[in-house]
Amino acid sequence: MPHVVEITHVQEFSASHRLHDPSLGDEENRRLFGICNNLHGHGHNYVVEVTVRGEVPSSGMVMNLNELSRILAEEVIAHVDHRHLNHDVPFLEGVVPTAENIAIAFWRRLQPPLTDYPGCRLTKIRIRESRTNSAEYRGETTGSST
Ligand code: NI
Repeated sequence: MPHVVEITHVQEFSASHRLHDPSLGDEENRRLFGICNNLHGHGHNYVVEVTVRGEVPSSGMVMNLNELSRILAEEVIAHVDHRHLNHDVPFLEGVVPTAENIAIAFWRRLQPPLTDYPGCRLTKIRIRESRTNSAEYRGETTGSST
């Protein structure tokens, strides 16, 4: 029986953001997001962990980690490193850049190119915003699928 293994690649980037929902008033934004709503934003050294899963073939590799590294660098890191996530990143436009929403947006960037690698699939993206806070997305939705 083939063995199924998950492999994970990690990269870092630095960016600023402000948690602010333009559809809400200033007071509501302050109440909801606290100091994360400060007008001119703040920075994080983010850590992105990308996990793919598949059977271990005769090559011994679920996926070449150099390929996974290149895809993450090209599709995500090049667009967000040293940027302001509220203003500078087209694929985050209209998104409140919480760690949760960043994880979902990165999934949408990474999932299509990974379909070129049969035998493995994207299973998890974790965004570490600080040593204590992180968000993890596994591609799930709830409710009726449309
Ligand atoms: Ni923050």
